[in-house]
Amino acid sequence: MKDMDRRGGIAILDFGSQYTQLIARRVREFEVFSEIFPWDVRIGRIKESEPKGIILSGGPRSATSSDAPTVDASLLDGSIPVLGICYGMQLIAHKLGGRVEKGRLGEYGRTRVRFDRGISRISEGLPEEIDVWMSHWDEVRGLPDDAERFASSESGACAGFVMMGGRVQGLQFHPEVESTEHGREMLSRYIFDVCGCEPNWKLGDWLGRALGAVSEAIGGTDRIVCGLSGGVDSTVAAALVSRTAGERLDCVFVDHGFMRQNEVPQVLEMYKQLRLKVRRVDASERFLSALSGVTSPERKRKIIGELFVRVFEEEALRLGGARWLLQGTIYPDVIESGLVGGDVIKSHHNVGGLPGDMEMKLLEPLRELFKDEVRRIGPLLNIPGHFLKRHPFPGPGLAVRCLGALDRERLDILRAADDIFISEIRGAGLYDSIWQAFCVLLPVKSVGVAGDVRTYGETVAMRAVASLDAMTAESVRLPWELIERVTKRICGEVRGVGRVVMDVTGKPPATIEWE
Ligand code: XMP
Repeated sequence: MKDMDRRGGIAILDFGSQYTQLIARRVREFEVFSEIFPWDVRIGRIKESEPKGIILSGGPRSATSSDAPTVDASLLDGSIPVLGICYGMQLIAHKLGGRVEKGRLGEYGRTRVRFDRGISRISEGLPEEIDVWMSHWDEVRGLPDDAERFASSESGACAGFVMMGGRVQGLQFHPEVESTEHGREMLSRYIFDVCGCEPNWKLGDWLGRALGAVSEAIGGTDRIVCGLSGGVDSTVAAALVSRTAGERLDCVFVDHGFMRQNEVPQVLEMYKQLRLKVRRVDASERFLSALSGVTSPERKRKIIGELFVRVFEEEALRLGGARWLLQGTIYPDVIESGLVGGDVIKSHHNVGGLPGDMEMKLLEPLRELFKDEVRRIGPLLNIPGHFLKRHPFPGPGLAVRCLGALDRERLDILRAADDIFISEIRGAGLYDSIWQAFCVLLPVKSVGVAGDVRTYGETVAMRAVASLDAMTAESVRLPWELIERVTKRICGEVRGVGRVVMDVTGKPPATIEWE
């Protein structure tokens, strides 16, 4: 599939910072296209997209060590504006003749920074002092010739410098994180005032271009097959392609038996409304027997992943004759699988792990969008808002929320308990403000008493977390009355449950899911 028009945006060179994706998302919040490249990408590849500016990300290494990730000095000649953030700033200093050394203590977390006026456009109009987010050990101790410092931290360390008339600048702190005051303003000054970008990355236009690119790729006769998971990405991808492929798109929905209460009929009904041609394969028996007696979380995930691909492959081969395999790959998947900056993937082997006898080409219309952008495209394709706003749900479904060995009975208990919890949360009007809420069935039985009779029942854990990107999370303080009501309802209405507990652990140290 032909690439979209990516010109005139911001290229981000990734030096391994945990915030690189965040920088790219922030740039797009200003309706400016951003693209992440690995630090060692060919310069020609960056220039193909004709970026109006470059950002060098942070990174965990020391710019002065001999094997550290580096940047070609020709990118720092001022012909394209460059902003170095944290490691990026140290790298610029190091490459252009400055001095980078280990600081005495390093600076971590919220730090006060003072600006000198009239030197950098990035800090123009900001208060003289602000709190910013720092995370570094090395410091820029000597500036390159021609560079001028415009920001200093309370320890006296250089927190920002500018050179080549503003075409090359560095910030020691992270303007992309929420904890930096005026961070968005600083990025906006760089993107618009320094680089001269135009806010022309509009999702409505993107959709038009994506439809054109898909049409061109598949022509008038190619057939396409797509695996629908019941999640947002594959649904949006299928709805998009069906606009141009119509009946030539065949979707397969592999029902592994680990979906939530009523989820399968609801999702199938929505697919019908979207006029997708979907074949549901009930493989729940196969999944359960493959997992019989398996308790290790990793084994469960591996068995489910492999069987999923096998069932999908059988169906796709049965449909036969498809030239394209449609996938809902999104930009973070591309970044995380280390494929950024590379050529468009030519073979399905690189991603889905599908066997070699399916000679299909990959169609990945969403591969340059972030999740929030996919959610915003959804309504333009008539996908209902309540579906797009659903809490994240893991691919292996309830299998990784039903701890210990799986059987139908325990899965039904979990489904019923989870349904009560979620419907009470919805009833209290809290659903949309929570990142994720769900129940987990523990592999623990406990003693209780009901009507003077001893019971020995299952244990359900409730979990509700707040998060921005699932990288970290904290427990949501649900109203106590809600917790009590849900507990009573689960114990009263779900046969076999004798105890309900609340998980209030953050991430870290826990993960959001239990397995
Ligand atoms: P953890 O448990 O690692 O989860 O804190 C982070 C986020 O990812 C979701 N998750 C998954 N999503 N397939 C998915 O599509 C998976 O296998 C999977 N495992 C975890 C999890 O629900 C949370 O939102």
